[in-house]
Amino acid sequence: MALFGKKQPQTDVSELILPKHVGIIMDGNGRWAKKRGLPRKAGHTEGARTFRKITRYCSEIGIQYLTVYAFSTENWRRPEDEVGALMKLFKSYLEEAIRDFKDDDIVVRFIGDKNGFSPELRELMDENEECSRERQGMVLNIAMNYGSRDEIVRAVRAIAADVRDGRLSEDEITEQLVSDHLYTAGQPDPDLIIRPSGEYRISNFLLWQSAYTEFVIMNKLWPDFQKEDLDEALRIYSQRNRRYGGV
Ligand code: FPP
Repeated sequence: MALFGKKQPQTDVSELILPKHVGIIMDGNGRWAKKRGLPRKAGHTEGARTFRKITRYCSEIGIQYLTVYAFSTENWRRPEDEVGALMKLFKSYLEEAIRDFKDDDIVVRFIGDKNGFSPELRELMDENEECSRERQGMVLNIAMNYGSRDEIVRAVRAIAADVRDGRLSEDEITEQLVSDHLYTAGQPDPDLIIRPSGEYRISNFLLWQSAYTEFVIMNKLWPDFQKEDLDEALRIYSQRNRRYGGV
């Protein structure tokens, strides 16, 4: 892993071999707010702006899959007013996405357990998926109430039920079959995961899917993250030598 935060020369992404699938752990909203003497929720509001900007940019430059970590299964432990503020942000983003983002050729998908959310939010999530389903552009996976261990447990349970009921034999359980039972079934594994804010942790994000993912840690808080920072992460990625365990 490498930490990059200093000003780098501009990168022309059209000259790079781009990853098909990028994951982003949108970290650092709270610290961004604290530095300014603001409540943590102000950091999330700014983080939501960055999310919109970077999502559009990824779609424009030709990223095929983008997965963003918006709310983990562990984030419910945060103070009630912070969780409430995040739910409000999700609601306003989802309403706005249905209303205003018709021209963005982005397929919206949610990964995680929707049942944790209010019926109103669940409806908005379904509507967003439904109205973007036929689009041909970038797939945007928004991880909400997502935890990778939870995702794997669900997959194991479903496979165990199939074996119990005779739909599957033990030796039919393969890596592919496990992948096919995850929320990301049918999608390529992430090539690159970016974590802003300088933390070297995976935080229960895409554990199975990231077996051979390249990580780029950036020393910028998510609300400060710019298109140029994404360019820089893509440049670093393009210089990595991916060996997938070979030589
Ligand atoms: C982690 O930073 C960030 C989150 C738990 C929330 C991420 C949510 C957004 C960026 C809102 C936008 C999302 C959508 C889908 C509209 P942190 O709060 O842990 O920061 P800290 O480590 O500095 O405390």
